[in-house]
Amino acid sequence: MAAAFARPTRLPMRTATSLAAAWRPVARVQIPMLQQQMGGARFKSGPYGYTQAKALVFSKMGEPADVLSVHTHSISPTLPPNAALLRTLAAPINPADINTVQGTYGAKPTFSSLIGTAEPSSVPGSEACFEVVSVGSGVTTLKPGDWALPAAPGLGTWRTHALVEEADASLVGISKEKLEGLTPAAAATSTVNPCTAWRMLRDYVDLVELSVKAGQGAWFIQNGANSGVGRAAIQLGKLWGLRSINVVRARDTPEATAALKQELTDLGATIVITEEELQERGFSSGRLRNELMADKESPLLLALNCVGGRPALGLAKCLSDGGQMVTYGAMAKQPLTIPAGLLIFRDLSFHGFWFSRWGKVDPAARRTTVEAVLDLMRTGKFLPGPAEEIPWTWETETETLQKAVAGTLEGYRSGKGIFVFKET
Ligand SMILES: NC(=O)c1ccc[n+]([C@@H]2O[C@H](COP(=O)([O-])OP(=O)(O)OC[C@H]3O[C@@H](n4cnc5c(N)ncnc54)[C@H](OP(=O)(O)O)[C@@H]3O)[C@@H](O)[C@H]2O)c1
Repeated sequence: MAAAFARPTRLPMRTATSLAAAWRPVARVQIPMLQQQMGGARFKSGPYGYTQAKALVFSKMGEPADVLSVHTHSISPTLPPNAALLRTLAAPINPADINTVQGTYGAKPTFSSLIGTAEPSSVPGSEACFEVVSVGSGVTTLKPGDWALPAAPGLGTWRTHALVEEADASLVGISKEKLEGLTPAAAATSTVNPCTAWRMLRDYVDLVELSVKAGQGAWFIQNGANSGVGRAAIQLGKLWGLRSINVVRARDTPEATAALKQELTDLGATIVITEEELQERGFSSGRLRNELMADKESPLLLALNCVGGRPALGLAKCLSDGGQMVTYGAMAKQPLTIPAGLLIFRDLSFHGFWFSRWGKVDPAARRTTVEAVLDLMRTGKFLPGPAEEIPWTWETETETLQKAVAGTLEGYRSGKGIFVFKET
C-alpha cells in the first residue's frame, strides 16, 4: 500500500522509525514552496526536504462529485529502508476506479489516516506511471530517475506523490535506460487493460493453436471494442495472427460511425459492426458468421463481453457450438440473460474474468505480462488508446479534478481520461 506522512509539528529525529509512527498530520502546509531538482524530478519541497503532496481522497463511498476532495500533506525525506518516494507522471481514470469510489466494484476501498486526513480516507486510482524520486537503503530494483508502475491494484494513484512501502514487491520498475519508446501515459495504461485482453485471448480457447492447424487466423468476437481492453484485444489479436469481429456503439452521424470503424480497422480489426448491425444479423445462430466471415467453415469459439445485457446475448448467439464467452465488464449495467438452449443445445460456456484476481493468484505471471506489454509498446507494436489529458498542476482546483472523474463514465468520449502531472 502507498503511504505518505504528514510533516510533524516538531522536527523528526533522523532515525528510521516505523512508517506510521511519530508523524502528525497538518491540515495545510503554510510554508513557501521551492522548486528543487532531485534525481531529474521536479517537485515541490519545503524546508528540511519535506515533499509537499496533494491527493484526491474520499472517506465514504458515493458519486465522485460528492465524495472526492483534495488533501494536502507533506512527506518526510527520511525513507524507511524498503520504501520509495515517487512522483506521479500520469494516472488514468478507469471505469473500475469510479466503481470503487461508488462502492460497486468487486474490491472495496480501505480507509486509513496515513496521510493525515481528518477522517480515515482512501486514495482512488489503480494505475499510474511514477518517477522514482528517492529510495530507501534496502530497495534493490529501483533507482532515482527510473519509472515505476503499480504491481497490483490498491496503491491509490490519483496523487501527486506517494511513499510506497515494500517498493520492490509493490512496483514494476522501468529503468531509466529503458524508457525510450515509452510515454508516461502509455506506461500508465499498460498494467490492466492490455494485460486483461492478453489473458482472455490466451487462457480460454487456444486460438493460436487453432490458427496453426487451420493455416489461417482463428476468429474471436467482442463488444465494447472501442474500450481500452477492446483496442488492446484488437492489436494483440492482429499481432498473433487472429481475426476479430468488433462490435461498437454507433456515433451521432454515419460519418462519425464510419470514422470509428476505420480507426479500429487501422488498428488491426478484421470486421467492425455496430450493436444495431449485430442485432440485425447476429440473432439467428450462424447468420453473422455466414454473412461476415469470408471462410464459412471457420468456427467462432471465443467472445469477449465488456457490456452485458442484450449486446452480450447478441454476441453469444454468434458463437459456434462449444464456444466460450468471457465476461469482464458490465458497461451497460444490465444483467446477462442467457436462454437455456444456448447452454443445452449449443454447448456454450460462460466465464467471468477479473485480472485483479488472476494477478493475485500469480503475481509473477502478472509482472511478466506487464513487461511483455511494455516491450511491445517500446517497439511500436502496441499503441496506447486515445487519451483526454487532464493537466494536474499544484494550482488545479478540486472541482476540475472531480469533474474529470465524474465525466469518465458518460461514454462516447474521444479518449480515456488521464491525469497528467505538471509542476507539482
Ligand atoms: N475484469 C477485468 O479484469 C477488467 C480489466 C479491465 C477493465 N475491465 C472492465 O472493462 C470495461 C472497459 O474498461 P476500459 O478501461 O477498457 O474502458 P474505457 O477505455 O474507459 O472505455 C469504456 C468503454 O465502455 C463503453 N461503454 C460505456 N457505456 C456503455 C454502454 N452503456 N453500453 C455499451 N458500451 C458502453 C464505451 O463505449 P463508447 O466508445 O461507445 O463510448 C467505451 O468503449 C469496464 O467495465 C472495466 O471495469 C475489466
